[in-house]
Amino acid sequence: MTDDDDASVTIGDATGEVGAATDAPPMISMLNVDKYFGDLHVLDDITLEVPRGQVVVVLGPSGSGKSTLCRTINRLEPVDSGSIAIDGVPLPAEGRALAALRADVGMVFQSFNLFAHKTIVENVTLAPIKVRKVRKGDARTLAMELLDRVGIADQAQKYPAQLSGGQQQRVAIARALAMSPKVMLFDEPTSALDPEMVNEVLDVMASLAKDGMTMLVVTHEMGFARRAADRVLFMADGRVVEDASPEAFFTAPRSERAKDFLGKILSH
Ligand SMILES: Nc1ncnc2c1ncn2[C@@H]1O[C@H](COP(=O)(O)OP(=O)(O)OP(=O)(O)O)[C@@H](O)[C@H]1O
Ligand SMILES: [Mg+2]
Repeated sequence: MTDDDDASVTIGDATGEVGAATDAPPMISMLNVDKYFGDLHVLDDITLEVPRGQVVVVLGPSGSGKSTLCRTINRLEPVDSGSIAIDGVPLPAEGRALAALRADVGMVFQSFNLFAHKTIVENVTLAPIKVRKVRKGDARTLAMELLDRVGIADQAQKYPAQLSGGQQQRVAIARALAMSPKVMLFDEPTSALDPEMVNEVLDVMASLAKDGMTMLVVTHEMGFARRAADRVLFMADGRVVEDASPEAFFTAPRSERAKDFLGKILSH
């Protein structure tokens, strides 16, 4: 893995002007978003702005709506009311415009969902060729740069089953990055991994964060939250109950729900 050709891989906001005074719209913007599953109010009047380059860690008990929040942001789930915009562009309901906009939002799940019968490099080139209409050779060059970046260029010709869980998750990250997303969503990306593989994935995510990618990360990895997050959202019952800096949240949570949650998770 080489560091000196990093400049050819554009990650996040290429201008690097994170926090600069501009009229740029928020990268993610949610306004009064409600979502129900039957009678269950899973997202309850969520209003949220994530500026360009910000890294947000989302915490909360099971069932609080964290995954649903991610899934509405890239329209895997429709909302019942309210609006969501990515980089100032409202999410269209369906069709080609939705497909294009969804490609702006990369998502990495707990399960890696790689294509088992395609090689690692093919997994990374597939969507750019099909969706972005990138030429094969160019897609491959980009894929190799990204695989190098996540530290597994030497595995490019293998099949997913020949890789460890941590390696597969890094392929999943490279695959998402290959679409040049404006935002990356991570939903418990290390929960399915053996403990010794967690850090290799978190390190890749921390490096992305450092390079200016706008990220929303659902995770129980408190070390990552403290180290890499600009902001912590604590959810309970479909609402954002706390919205604070990691320092403020971890040292002085305001709500009983958050105190209770931290008490449980930190006593592990
Ligand atoms: N497709 C669905 N149909 C019906 N109910 C659903 C569906 N998806 C999620 N729910 C319910 O919505 C609520 C929020 O679920 P969600 O998966 O967003 O929670 P979460 O915070 O991600 O939880 P976890 O920490 O367990 O992953 C839960 O009560 C869940 O059972
Ligand atoms: Mg979840």
